[in-house]
Amino acid sequence: MYDNSKLKFKEFPDFKEIKWKSPSNIALVKYWGKRPVQIPMNPSVSFTLQESATTTKMNIRPVQDKETRINFYLGKESNELFAEKTLAFFNSISSIFPFIKQLDFEIKSENSFPHSAGIASSASGMSALALCLCDIERTYFSTLQTEDEFFQKASYVARLGSGSAARSTFGGAVLWGETPYIPDSSDFYGLSLKERLHTEFKNYQDTILIVDAGQKKVSSRVGHSLMKTNPFASHRFEQAKTNAENIIKVLETGDIDTFIKITESEALTLHAMMMTSMPYFLLIKPNTLQIIEKLWEYRLETGIPLSFTLDAGPNVHLLYPQQYKKEIKEFISSELKKYLQSPGVIYDYVGTGPEKLN
Ligand code: DP6
Repeated sequence: MYDNSKLKFKEFPDFKEIKWKSPSNIALVKYWGKRPVQIPMNPSVSFTLQESATTTKMNIRPVQDKETRINFYLGKESNELFAEKTLAFFNSISSIFPFIKQLDFEIKSENSFPHSAGIASSASGMSALALCLCDIERTYFSTLQTEDEFFQKASYVARLGSGSAARSTFGGAVLWGETPYIPDSSDFYGLSLKERLHTEFKNYQDTILIVDAGQKKVSSRVGHSLMKTNPFASHRFEQAKTNAENIIKVLETGDIDTFIKITESEALTLHAMMMTSMPYFLLIKPNTLQIIEKLWEYRLETGIPLSFTLDAGPNVHLLYPQQYKKEIKEFISSELKKYLQSPGVIYDYVGTGPEKLN
């Protein structure tokens, strides 16, 4: 839908550095299962994070050899693997941005969070790259002049890099995937739910507990493909469609009790899907379960609406209203710290979305 053969330089201007900071996000209703090309089997809804972000600087110059070259730095280190992956991604989107083939790229990317945190760096990283490319288009071709056009295209492009990245180009809460409840929703790009957010959720907290700082056991690619043969997949996709619609209603009304039911059920279902796939995977650890048990006890005893979600790994995201931050901090130090590995605890919260820097 975005192929555009006109986006080619006739002559080269003086290029300036382009720099974007893009946040990661945490899914409340999960995207797990896709079909080509990067089309989700069900709609998903996430909170955008504030602190966990990737900052990407892009310097471009006219291509020196016949083919585009990319130098990629992750932090201070040059990273061959990321250079190759980014080149493959850029080649795959060169009909959307034909100028890619005319340029060499130096990309410097930095994550605000440790790699071991299990925070989706592909979401923030791909989103930051997509924003930089859209910014090149906007700056040198004078297109994408409205905010809506700009961020919609960025989300579309980010999706092609990593599905969940489609949800990182907006702040607040984001829906990606078609649902009858939201007429503008699309499988091709995310849609901001910021304006719909009830005050309760505007600064909702996400505290990430690092249960295991090791590498991911199952890549998203493998995980998504397992859903093709999982015997419960079709039911799961239907459940997620209902949950997506209901969580949006919850985000609008501020109904925290239902929020807890949907998010916790989504997290457990994601893991149930992995346990019931062939081959099967168990991605939670004994300490993940210890934390969940303690959390449930704590919620029952105190009445504080603390809930959890999980990504495709053992780390636990604690979700709660900002007013309970002090109590939750105390609860973590007294009851949960013993289950954690360094870096232990990362405090984050619902964020404002990507930002152009310079
Ligand atoms: C469990 O977006 O990482 O975090 O599209 O293959 O890059 P690809 O997958 P990815 O999958 C994310 C899966 C999840 C749930 C979610 O974020 O919705």
